[in-house]
Amino acid sequence: MARITASVYTSHVPAIGAAIDLGKTGEPYWQPLFKGYEPSRQWMKDNTPDVVFLVYNDHATAFSLDMIPTFAIGCAAEFTPADEGWGPRPVPKVIGHPELAAHIAQSVIQDDFDLTIVNKMDVDHGLTVPLSLLCGQPEAWPCPVIPFAVNVVQYPVPSGRRCYNLGKAIRKAVECYDRPLNVQIWGTGGMTHQLQGPRAGLINREWDNAWLDKLIHDPEAAAATPHIDYVREAGSEGIELVMWLIARGAMADVNGGPAPTLRHRFYHVPASNTAVGHAILENNV
Ligand code: DHB
Ligand code: FE
Repeated sequence: MARITASVYTSHVPAIGAAIDLGKTGEPYWQPLFKGYEPSRQWMKDNTPDVVFLVYNDHATAFSLDMIPTFAIGCAAEFTPADEGWGPRPVPKVIGHPELAAHIAQSVIQDDFDLTIVNKMDVDHGLTVPLSLLCGQPEAWPCPVIPFAVNVVQYPVPSGRRCYNLGKAIRKAVECYDRPLNVQIWGTGGMTHQLQGPRAGLINREWDNAWLDKLIHDPEAAAATPHIDYVREAGSEGIELVMWLIARGAMADVNGGPAPTLRHRFYHVPASNTAVGHAILENNV
């Protein structure tokens, strides 16, 4: 049977992708940020899974106001990095896993979560920046990736509680897939940021770190965070954090298993207008 072996949480600030692509990672502004991800890149090399199930949000790239799926699962064989206005990032195309994606869609939809099945989709910085942070600049990404897009851009957005429960359903789906695959689940976006209006540039270190503590040690409490708290405390774009709860809900401990091991935790300000948070949890089963 397939297994979820670990979860990875990371911000996806587009300027990080540009810094990598333009060779600026050693500059004084960026150096501390990339240093914080060095252990993660080593960990990823040592623990390359068979598939990454990557929870992210599209930023009006593949979707627009014409069509707003709350949860969309990428079932295609491949996904092309999108042109977000400056040309597509010079990163490898993303190879999917149509068979596992279709299985997860079947199981999760029968488990009462309405997913949109997407058979053709370009992927933006929400997906490619986390891959760059964990995998560096390879010729090809080290494994297939199932993109799972969550609407956190256009209201109404899903609650943290629903995302957490969806993670549990995804775990159940993976664990009844009849092939011995090692699957990681990644929750991306966040942390504090507000990109527009009078509060643009808001950073709330204290709230971010308290929420990260909860995510790791008391995920039920993190899942109970009301929507208004994200907006008030973490800024309008801080709502991206609900995506981390999908990954956390898929871990063993919240489904009757043992506590995970925290492999790495990192927090850094600033990256563009955004606080960057990151954690890696490994399952012990
Ligand atoms: C920015 C954009 C994002 O989508 C995000 O999550 C963080 C920062 C930006 O434009 O700086
Ligand atoms: Fe974003």
